[in-house]
Amino acid sequence: MKVALTGSSGMLGHAVKRRFSDVTLIPFSRNKLDITDLDDAIAKIRDARPHFLIHAAAFTNVDACETEPEKAYLVNGIGARNVAIACEEIRCPVVLVSSDYVFDGMKPAPYDEWDMTNPINQYGVSKLMAETFVTSPANPGGFNRSHVPALWEQR
Ligand SMILES: NC(=O)c1ccc[n+]([C@@H]2O[C@H](COP(=O)([O-])OP(=O)(O)OC[C@H]3O[C@@H](n4cnc5c(N)ncnc54)[C@H](OP(=O)(O)O)[C@@H]3O)[C@@H](O)[C@H]2O)c1
Repeated sequence: MKVALTGSSGMLGHAVKRRFSDVTLIPFSRNKLDITDLDDAIAKIRDARPHFLIHAAAFTNVDACETEPEKAYLVNGIGARNVAIACEEIRCPVVLVSSDYVFDGMKPAPYDEWDMTNPINQYGVSKLMAETFVTSPANPGGFNRSHVPALWEQR
């Protein structure tokens, strides 16, 4: 089983590398694959031919996303789109790790995957862009609004 991982040098990337020690992991740090470059994404992911891809690359500084919204849309939105296009070419499912920032926080109970989204900051908007691009019918993997700290707590 070959699993590709974008954002491999980030916090989640490191946690995934620890958890997936029993599969052939193909790590893509930013210097190996800049997800904002569609041609590069297509070429590198096609060459790697993974069975599925975990997309953990993102611009995650929530405050900086407010002052640099174009960068947030480019990295988080268009970057996810580029990865989804590249994976679609080789019929490789994409696992997108989204964020609770796609919600407005007004629900008086825990959110589930089917709740209405309503981002209230640029980071949330950019992550919702990513969800929209990755949940095309062509992506057989879909997405997962996962609770990331649960993964990090694994030993
Ligand atoms: N942290 C949380 O609590 C949390 C909660 C829910 C969801 N998430 C989601 O989990 C994912 C990973 O988060 P994280 O905490 O691991 O973030 P992180 O530590 O900031 O890691 C993000 C990674 O993305 C890379 N990256 C940034 N721009 C890139 C580009 N243009 N091309 C390729 N790679 C690029 C970064 O590379 P550099 O190191 O070179 O900058 C970094 O390695 C994100 O989608 C985030 O929205 C995180």
